[in-house]
Amino acid sequence: MLKFWRRPAAEAASPAWAEIVRSRQVAVDQAAELARARNPAEAAFYAQTDCLALKWHHYLEVYDRHLSRYRGKPVRLLELGVFHGGSLQMWRRYFGEAAVIHGIDVDPRCAAFDDPGLHVHIGSQADPAVLDRAMAAMGGVDVVIDDGSHRNDHQIASFEHLYPRIAPDGVYVVEDVHSSYWPEFQGGLRRPGSFVEFAKRQLDRLNARYVVEGDAADRDTAFADMTHGIAFHDSMVVFEKRPDTAPWHTAVGHRTLY
Ligand SMILES: C[S@@+](CC[C@H](N)C(=O)[O-])C[C@H]1O[C@@H](n2cnc3c(N)ncnc32)[C@H](O)[C@@H]1O
Repeated sequence: MLKFWRRPAAEAASPAWAEIVRSRQVAVDQAAELARARNPAEAAFYAQTDCLALKWHHYLEVYDRHLSRYRGKPVRLLELGVFHGGSLQMWRRYFGEAAVIHGIDVDPRCAAFDDPGLHVHIGSQADPAVLDRAMAAMGGVDVVIDDGSHRNDHQIASFEHLYPRIAPDGVYVVEDVHSSYWPEFQGGLRRPGSFVEFAKRQLDRLNARYVVEGDAADRDTAFADMTHGIAFHDSMVVFEKRPDTAPWHTAVGHRTLY
């Protein structure tokens, strides 16, 4: 599985991170996993018998938690990183025929998956023009899944360009943020510029309304105004947008102790 992570330069990968990934690889009885699927995302993944798809098992539960509301709807999903195309097929199975499913991959061979049902754009996820072209072709985007280069600078560049532009109630998922801890991907523990450090900073921005120190930028509520929440999972960060997030509080009941 490892050789699929960075193509075509997998052999240059550090044995350290490669060994971590390899040690977590499990060969499963796909039919048995399908039979005991605990949610529709697991069912969609383990039913995949055509093109190859790669997902960490626990991602499927997280996906279902955040994306189930889109099933059966004309959701517009953009996946960064197409690889062998199995993931796009899986999303079709999960969301249904009404879904608009596009992918972006830097590898021109992925154009082979472009058909009337699954569109593939060739280019880098770090190129805003490529992202804009895909968004325009889709008529807007509801869900982004970043499973592309796993380079931290790319993950941040894609997020900064796409997040403000996706639907006001959209979902933005970044997979495999374990690359935030690996120098080969411009990461490192608490290293400025890693996606996880960037995401931690977004937590402060989510709470910017309550910041009483710092400067105007620290109290800028632009991100908070469009964001419902950020969920951190093992190797995965999910950002949920929502319009009109301005929080308020109130009291109910009338009996008091003093
Ligand atoms: C992990 S694979 C994607 C797996 C696929 N999403 C799945 O679940 O089966 C990563 C893919 O990202 C592509 N990739 C690498 N760098 C990229 C970049 N800068 N922009 C877009 N795609 C890139 C690779 O060519 C490769 O096909």
